[in-house]
Amino acid sequence: MKLFLDTGDLSEVRRAAEWGVLDGVTTNPTLIAKSGKGFKETVLAICEAVPGGAISAEVVATDYDLMLKEALEIASWHEQIVVKVPLIEPGVRLVSTLADQGIRTNVTLVFTVTQALMAAKAGATYISNFVGRVDDLATDGMAAVQETVDMVDTYGFESEVLVASVRHPLHVTQAVAAGAHVATMPLKVMEMMFNHPLTDIGLRRFLDDWNAAGLTIG
Ligand code: G3P
Repeated sequence: MKLFLDTGDLSEVRRAAEWGVLDGVTTNPTLIAKSGKGFKETVLAICEAVPGGAISAEVVATDYDLMLKEALEIASWHEQIVVKVPLIEPGVRLVSTLADQGIRTNVTLVFTVTQALMAAKAGATYISNFVGRVDDLATDGMAAVQETVDMVDTYGFESEVLVASVRHPLHVTQAVAAGAHVATMPLKVMEMMFNHPLTDIGLRRFLDDWNAAGLTIG
C-alpha cells in the first residue's frame, strides 16, 4: 500500500520524506493557496523533496479546452507530476485524452462507485475517493472505497484506488482492510500512525532495566 502526504507545505513534505516511507504527495487548490507560495514553485520543490514520488497537481479550469491546456502545462513541469482532475464530465473526457498521451492522472472528488467507474474506464491512474467529507455527513465514507476496490478488481482496471480526505488513523486501518492501493493524509495523521502507549511504556521499561544493570553496547 502506498502512503501519500496531503499537503502544500514543503516543510511537512521534507519531514515525512525523511522517514523513507513516502510514495508521493497530493495537493489541491486549497492546500496550494494555504502554502502562501506560487503553484509551480511549490510543486517543483515537492518533486525534488520526494525523488521518484508521484506528485499530484490539480487543474482549476472547468471547461475541457482550458483544462487540457492547464493539464499539458502542469504535466510539462516535471516527470513525477500526476495531473489531478475533478470528476466532472469534461474532466472524464480530459482523463481519456491524457491517458492516450501517457500522462498520469488522479481523478478527485469521487464519492460513488459509479463516478469511480467513469474514471477507471477513462484510464485514470488514481481514483481519489473522499471519506472524511462523507463521514462528516453522518454517512459511511469508506463504503464507496470498498465498492470501488471491488469494482477495479472484478473488471481488472489498472486504476489505483486512493483514499483521500483521511482524518485519523482509523481511516488508514479501514483503507487497508478495504484493499485500497493508496491513502493520502495530512502530516498530523501520518505522525499518529507511529503512536501506541504500550510502545512508549515498553521502551521506557527496556531502557530503565538496561541502565539499572549498567550495561553498554560494544
Ligand atoms: O486532497 C483531497 C483531500 O484529501 C482533501 O481532504 O480533509 O479537505 O476533506 P479534506
